[in-house]
Amino acid sequence: MQKMNNPTSSQPKNNAQTKVNLPYFDFLLAAFSAGNDALASSFGRHVHWGYWPEPKQATLTAEDFAQATEALSQQICSAAFIHDGMSVLDVGCGFGGTVAHINENYTAMQLVGLNLDERQLQRARTTVNAMPSNQVEFKQGNACALPFADHSFDVVLAVECIFHFPDRAQFFKEAYRVLKPNGYLALSDFLPNTRQVPLMALKLPGWSFYGQCNLNCDIKDYRQLAEKTQFAITAERDITCHTLPTYSYLRRLALQQKVTLKRAAIETLAIEVLSRLNWVNYYILALQK
Ligand SMILES: C[S@@+](CC[C@H](N)C(=O)[O-])C[C@H]1O[C@@H](n2cnc3c(N)ncnc32)[C@H](O)[C@@H]1O
Repeated sequence: MQKMNNPTSSQPKNNAQTKVNLPYFDFLLAAFSAGNDALASSFGRHVHWGYWPEPKQATLTAEDFAQATEALSQQICSAAFIHDGMSVLDVGCGFGGTVAHINENYTAMQLVGLNLDERQLQRARTTVNAMPSNQVEFKQGNACALPFADHSFDVVLAVECIFHFPDRAQFFKEAYRVLKPNGYLALSDFLPNTRQVPLMALKLPGWSFYGQCNLNCDIKDYRQLAEKTQFAITAERDITCHTLPTYSYLRRLALQQKVTLKRAAIETLAIEVLSRLNWVNYYILALQK
């Protein structure tokens, strides 16, 4: 991996969006500070939907959910062909869960987690300790103006975060730029079923628990983005059915914790209904430079 402080001239100026407006992270951080162990054990490491290998056998315990979250990180690592000795950038790294997963399962790794939100990075820095043969760094920055030199990484990951980025095309360009030749970009995202794109473009007015989300990029749009950026798509996996138990888990957790946030309940239910109707699908995508 090249030195982080030695950007090349093709690195864009970091003049894109730098403000974080994600009420769900404000909620989680406040709950962790208040000592809410149940929320910290469910979302203190990964903040994503998880992957339930056998959805019908889901027991919906906290341990089961924790395994599901590790399993999603593993699925995405496999899609990117991650192996020992690689340099990996995890963009939109949250509290560092995927970096922690790689750190615990691979050796001789150079790992960088990037996030817009310094508060999340502070938690990542205190909870993720590099294994003896690995290097781990957490850095503040914007997915659409990556603060790294060209050809810095073997793999770039974006786990369940690309819908927050101001511009998917700009992120693709940036991921392509910082990847070494033949490197992989792997990501997970909620894709509208092609016929439902106009519906997903509708914006609800006012405050939103999940903040600014753009869910109107379907599989055809992704194929076009890949072509424009010169990525070759190597995996397109619809894993929606492996995410569905999470909705029941979240309902159970909200009841146990007496969480009464109406917008959170409405927005989560909306994603659940759209997913069950097959109008929105949860995908893992992998692309090679
Ligand atoms: C749903 S969370 C996923 C976190 C993490 N990938 C995980 O799986 O636990 C979305 C993340 O994207 C980050 N994010 C949103 N916009 C970003 C941007 N423009 N640049 C970098 N990170 C961003 C948020 O701060 C948050 O950590």
